[in-house]
Parts: sequence; structure tokens; C-alpha cells
Amino acid sequence: MTSPAIRDSTVLVTGGAGFIGSHLVGALAPHNEVRVLDNFSTGSREYLPPVSASVSGPASAPTSTSTSPSESASESEPPATSTGTTDSTDSMGSTDSTTIHDNVTVIDGDIGDPMALQRAARGVDLIFHQAALVSVSRSVDAPRRSNETNLDASLLVLEQARQEDARVVVASSAAVYGHPDELPISETASTDPNSPYGIQKLALDQYTRRYAELYDLPTVALRYFNAYGPRQQGPYSGVISTFLDQARADDPITIDGDGEQTRDFIHVSDIVRANLQAATTDAVGTAYNIGTGERTSIRELAELVRDAVGSTAPIVHREPRPGDIRHSGADITKARRELEFEAQVGLESGIRTLVQETDRSATSSQRAAMAAQHEQYSQE
Ligand code: UD1
Repeated sequence: MTSPAIRDSTVLVTGGAGFIGSHLVGALAPHNEVRVLDNFSTGSREYLPPVSASVSGPASAPTSTSTSPSESASESEPPATSTGTTDSTDSMGSTDSTTIHDNVTVIDGDIGDPMALQRAARGVDLIFHQAALVSVSRSVDAPRRSNETNLDASLLVLEQARQEDARVVVASSAAVYGHPDELPISETASTDPNSPYGIQKLALDQYTRRYAELYDLPTVALRYFNAYGPRQQGPYSGVISTFLDQARADDPITIDGDGEQTRDFIHVSDIVRANLQAATTDAVGTAYNIGTGERTSIRELAELVRDAVGSTAPIVHREPRPGDIRHSGADITKARRELEFEAQVGLESGIRTLVQETDRSATSSQRAAMAAQHEQYSQE
């Protein structure tokens, strides 16, 4: 399946400097005007398309006006290095906190800041809402804080889309289902989330669908299963990135519980394709499962990652994670039929490429991999 081309559009990607958002920006930037609104709590400027000679100038860090409700330092990535320039008069008439890359304007701000959001969304045709606090366990520790971003601020994004009459594609989650009562899980399965994160995503998912009905806005919610791929990192990232770091360091690979729990792992490049499909489909006002339809146990995963790295790290078991879902796997029938989306990257090959692509110790190789990826996206 080839993704439909989105061309000559003005597009906002919230969380566009983060793991999934930055891959989406890479796919859109060659043919569209892209705005990125990100508070850089976990994202990085290094993930954005490189600046070409025509827009680069003397390097200077953008002035931050981020109003992010205090992300603690321990939860943040190291401060990002600017690869662009602070523009004195950018395309939106602003004078600060804006970095211009080729076709990409970066607004350093929080989705919960109405002014930043308004500025970022002015005149857009399409919004991909990717900004979120993705850690399930963190939402258990701090439910109100994660609600502020995942629901309160997300509602501002929907309202802004309504204001601009823009199509909006929202990152929902398989977490909306809670402990599934059927496998694979179809979109009509009961939704009974077992974490604040899942509750917030479910409410957002419902708002997203209702906005189509109530305000005649083309909206789509994508329920991501377990995403992985380059640029997923940090203390709250997914199990594959954790296992990869452990295997590389020859540290024990830590399985929570017996390792027989299963997940449906989907590569970020497939998630990008699903978003592009959602941006053009006529089948709006609904939610789609975005997974591969394949389930893998965490034990199997640990072995796969260890083998791909060529590591001799021991595999150890810890206490099971409280509230951990036992099994999760997507029924992909609806996405295949209505969204015309099907994942292309299998787990083994996805992990193999991930191992080859990510050398986290070297920034230059990160950049080279990114450049190759942007090149690949622009040819699609
Ligand atoms: C993940 C996503 C969440 C998404 C959900 C959808 C992340 C951080 N979270 O939650 O946003 O909504 O999928 O399905 O991507 N595990 C270990 N050892 C570790 C780390 C994890 O055994 O060191 C196990 C966990 O106990 C769990 C599985 O691996 O059984 C997956 O964990 P994790 O990657 O944190 O994702 P989910 O909790 O499934």
C-alpha cells in the first residue's frame, strides 16, 4: 500500500518534535508547509528536518516561551541543540520562540497555552494531534498532571481545529480498552481503561468522534497499539527501547512478571502511513485500531532484541507491573477495509533495522540516519 500524497497543505503537528510526531513531520515536510508545536519536554530539535543553506543563519538558540506546566528535569530529555535559527520576522509575524527549517516552522510552546496554539494553528488545513504524556505508569503516579495534557489541552486542540475548520487526526491508544474481553480486540470491544492514561485517551477519542457529528468536522482517532522505532527513548519510553538500551550495555534485560504477556508492536513508519491515510479518508468521525494484528510475548521480545544486538545480557524477571494488561492485539479488519491501511513492517525486521539505525552515542550518525529517512519519505 502506498500512502496518499498530501501536498501543498498547511499542516500543524502537535508534539511534532517527539517520537511519532517528528517522523510525521519528516514525511510531510517535502510537500507541505508544516508547523510544529512542541514544548520539548521529551522531543528534540535534532529530530526535525535539517536546515538547508537558504534558511540557515548564525546559530542561536530560540528563545523559549514554553508554558509547559512544570515537566520535571528527570522526566525530560537533555536540552535540545537548535539546528535552525531564531527568526526575527517569521511567517506568522511572531518575533520569538520560532525556529524555521525548510518548510517547517517550530513553535516552542505548550498545547495547553491558548496563545501558542492559536498562533501555531492559524490558517491550517489539517492538524495531527500527537502531543501527549505517553507513560501509563506516570499517569498512575500523577493523574491530574497527565489529564492536563492528555485531555484538557487536547480539547483545546479540537476547539482550535473547529475554529480553523481544519481536519484533525488524533493519537488515541489501545489503552482505551483496558483488560480486553476478546482477542484480537476490535473497535467495538468494550472500553474499560485501567489507568488514568487510558481514561484520558478514551475521553479524547470520544470527543474526537463526536466533533465530527456535532460540528461537522472531519475527525479521525487512531488507536495506536505498541509503537516502536527510532527516536523512542527516555525513562518513560516503551519496552523495546528499554530492552535495546539494556542489551547494548550488556545489562540485565528486565522482564516484568513471567514475560508471557503479549503486545502488538507496530513500527513508527507504519503509524506515519496510517496518519496519512487518515488525513485523506472519507471514513471520518470514527476510530481505527492501528496495529499489525500479530502478538508477541515479552519473553520472545527480550530474546529477539538480545539476538539482534548480539548481546550476552542475562534476562531477568522482576515483580509484575501493577495493573499491567495481560494481552493486547489489534483486530485490523476495520482499518484495512475503511482506512485502507495495513502495517508493512514485521517485528523481526523492524528490530533489526532499529538496531542498525540507532547508534545513540553518536549525534552525527543520528543525523545521517535522519537525513536518509527524510530522503526516503520525500521519495514516497
Ligand atoms: C504502551 C504505551 C502506551 C500505549 C499502550 C497501547 C509506552 C511507554 N506506552 O503501554 O502509551 O497506550 O502501549 O497498547 O509506549 N515491560 C517489561 N520490562 C520493562 C518494560 C516493560 O517487561 O523494562 C513490559 C511491561 O510490563 C508490559 C510490556 O512490557 O507488559 C509493555 O510495556 P510498555 O512498553 O511500557 O507499554 P504498555 O504499558 O503496553
